[in-house]
Amino acid sequence: MAEPLRLAIAGLGTVGTGVIRLLEANREVVERRAGRAIEVVAVNARERGKDRGVDLSRFAWVDDMQAMATRADVDVVVELVGGSDGPALTLARSALDAGKGFVTANKAMVAHHGMELAELAAIKSAPFAFEAAVAGGIPVVKGLREGTAANALTRIYGILNGTCNYILSEMERTGADFGEMLSAAQEKGYAEADPTFDIEGVDAAHKLAILAAIGFGTRIDFEAVRCSGITQVSATDIAQADALGYVVRLVGIASMENGDEATGRLLQRVRPCLVPFRHPLAAVTGPTNAVVAEGDFSGRLLFQGAGAGDKPTASAVVADLIDIARGQAGAPFSVPVNQLATAEQGDPGERMGRDYIRFTVADRPGVLAEITAAMRDAGVSIESLIQRGRDRDGGEVQVAMVTHEGPERCVTAALELLEGSPSLAADPLVMPILGN
Ligand SMILES: NC(=O)c1ccc[n+]([C@@H]2O[C@H](COP(=O)([O-])OP(=O)(O)OC[C@H]3O[C@@H](n4cnc5c(N)ncnc54)[C@H](OP(=O)(O)O)[C@@H]3O)[C@@H](O)[C@H]2O)c1
Repeated sequence: MAEPLRLAIAGLGTVGTGVIRLLEANREVVERRAGRAIEVVAVNARERGKDRGVDLSRFAWVDDMQAMATRADVDVVVELVGGSDGPALTLARSALDAGKGFVTANKAMVAHHGMELAELAAIKSAPFAFEAAVAGGIPVVKGLREGTAANALTRIYGILNGTCNYILSEMERTGADFGEMLSAAQEKGYAEADPTFDIEGVDAAHKLAILAAIGFGTRIDFEAVRCSGITQVSATDIAQADALGYVVRLVGIASMENGDEATGRLLQRVRPCLVPFRHPLAAVTGPTNAVVAEGDFSGRLLFQGAGAGDKPTASAVVADLIDIARGQAGAPFSVPVNQLATAEQGDPGERMGRDYIRFTVADRPGVLAEITAAMRDAGVSIESLIQRGRDRDGGEVQVAMVTHEGPERCVTAALELLEGSPSLAADPLVMPILGN
């Protein structure tokens, strides 16, 4: 049997210790699949004395994480620290520069610096892999890179953040408001103490940008992802959606409009959406993730599973290591990095669809007429309009409407007409209705 693949692991938190446990528990399976043993040689974290529930005595402890990159006894550096820049990025650069393989679960870093790292990996002929960076244990990076490789994809979309999905599906189940369910998510360990990246949609945007690059063969363009989170979604919205036959989910959608990656325009968005009860994403509840890819020959594919957690994420990290051990790491973004297209950005105004729009308005005569006049003047056709009772202090009511299919630019124009109106007590919330 070939020589073992030797690892240095930076970061011994949830995922790092998960990887060590998996390599121990599934040693034989991994060795058979990899064609050789995969062995941890060196480890590093911030605090050496911390009890991590795993036996680290067999591994060399490295005080300076950066020293891992140049150790002669290491073939692959596994970065499980996190952070888009800082020590994780320094380690990535120096490991690849030294010709080591580099495996990471760090979506923030890949979304911001994936192109640079892929270029360095190509120059150094070093494997670079990040299956665990998107949707935890779901093999969606491999699925898009290899499984759908023969297809022109038109759309990739999904539920990419377990924290938001837990909060929204619990709001749906209990009728509670956002704040209460955020606290519940934090108590259960599904949300960080600082949940900003999750609830503002940034974490989902990181993952979407990576998936779009792989699925469409385009350079990552994280800055182009238009992103809004779930903080404005109220219990009333969820109840309203339910009455209309929908659930609310934070959905990341990347679509290639008017052509392929060479000629088309790429639109990347993360937004709360109304998902029809019969759509497969409606059944995705709790911290689960799901990704849908639509290929011209494959049709609609659904990838679903645990988007986080020590075991699922470790499963994805070790899958990358097995590929590297077999010498089958491949191009990290489906085609060689110098052949990735630079996609033009799509115009969201051109999107055709139906929208749910919720207004919080002053409870007085004429307000509804003002809103419907703005819709008419902007060319928005209203399918239904529901006014909810006086459930807010200060004489405010919630008015929700669903539009007929039309270009998004008309909805934007209608809201511009209403901007600054004293009738509106808060910014309107627009949630697109996901097509089938
Ligand atoms: N948790 C998940 O389910 C999940 C899923 C998918 C992807 N990821 C990604 O996986 C990565 C790791 O996540 P995690 O949940 O395992 O994080 P974590 O539990 O917070 O662990 C982070 C580890 O990095 C170490 N560390 C942090 N800053 C360091 C520094 N400056 N120098 C040296 N070590 C440092 C910490 O050391 P100490 O332990 O000594 O403090 C800790 O061991 C992140 O990129 C995350 O986005 C996580």
